[in-house]
Amino acid sequence: MKLSFAPMEGISTYIYRRLHARFFGGVEEYYAPFIAPDGKGNYKASARRDILPENNRDIRLIPQLLVNRPEPFISVARELAAMGYSEVNLNVGCPSATVVAKHKGAGMLMDPEGLDACLNEIFSRSPLRISIKTRMGMESTEEFPRILEIYRKYPLSRLIIHARARSGMYKSAVDISAFISALDGCPWPVWYNGDIFSPSSSGMAGLLRDNAAGLMLGRGAVADPALPRLLKGGPALEAEELKAFHDALLSAYLEAGYSPGAAIARLKELWFYMLHKFPDSRRESKQLLKAREFEDYKAAVSALFSGGKFSPESYFSQ
Ligand SMILES: Cc1cc2nc3c(=O)[nH]c(=O)nc-3n(C[C@H](O)[C@H](O)[C@H](O)COP(=O)(O)O)c2cc1C
Repeated sequence: MKLSFAPMEGISTYIYRRLHARFFGGVEEYYAPFIAPDGKGNYKASARRDILPENNRDIRLIPQLLVNRPEPFISVARELAAMGYSEVNLNVGCPSATVVAKHKGAGMLMDPEGLDACLNEIFSRSPLRISIKTRMGMESTEEFPRILEIYRKYPLSRLIIHARARSGMYKSAVDISAFISALDGCPWPVWYNGDIFSPSSSGMAGLLRDNAAGLMLGRGAVADPALPRLLKGGPALEAEELKAFHDALLSAYLEAGYSPGAAIARLKELWFYMLHKFPDSRRESKQLLKAREFEDYKAAVSALFSGGKFSPESYFSQ
């Protein structure tokens, strides 16, 4: 079973990806969090740093674009091609209200004709192969056959389906049967995404393994960075390796020039997920999330790991 690491804005930075690959690996590729260029194709220096080849040497990275017009897509795709990339991913899934209001991300699904026109142009002009990461509709997964009809006109390198409509945000039940039904109509490899949190949430994975080209892991792999390895039959996460991974991340953020406060803020975003490996540690968790000073934070992390409450079998749940 092929696995990939989902784009996770604010979480799966180049620093995170590099260390995840070094400590755990198990995924074929990592998707970079979205780049959101303006109309002229300009975008933030931090997003550029995130996809620079020298910062992504040991992994296979697929950059992602959040755009709804061809010009900025083509402009950034040319730049990516010059950097040596061969594939770019289009984000048709972001559910955030501000993004959707601009008809970007999942908001592109509000206007199927506009989506079609945009795809028509980017597929005819892109120097790179294009994959799409999509929701199954705005309000309901029943919208998907119409959307798929549009995608089918184009030579996607692959389609990644997050098996929810935008209205479900990250919470509603994933619609496995809509995903399976969609597969028949897809001429390209189709990857599944949504709620793979543990080997048993892959009760559905049995079904998916036989049907999907691969599984994209998001929150489940952030909560348990050994999840890819585990899904491939390897050993469960150990507290010591999680601690070593955490410490390496903290050092790497500081070395990259983050202030201690900014590095702690990055790591707290991870703890939102990783604390699921420490059931029944409310007091330690609270202390960790409250810590602002570097020394307090380090003490809180030590207290968490020495509290004896790490559980390899405890997984992310929402
Ligand atoms: C904090 C956060 C950041 C995300 N950033 C991105 C992003 O940059 N691009 C994208 O396509 N999806 C993004 N997603 C969506 C994930 O890639 C994934 O589709 C979603 O979390 C569902 O998969 P999961 O249930 O395995 O987490 C993000 C999700 C979260 C929770």
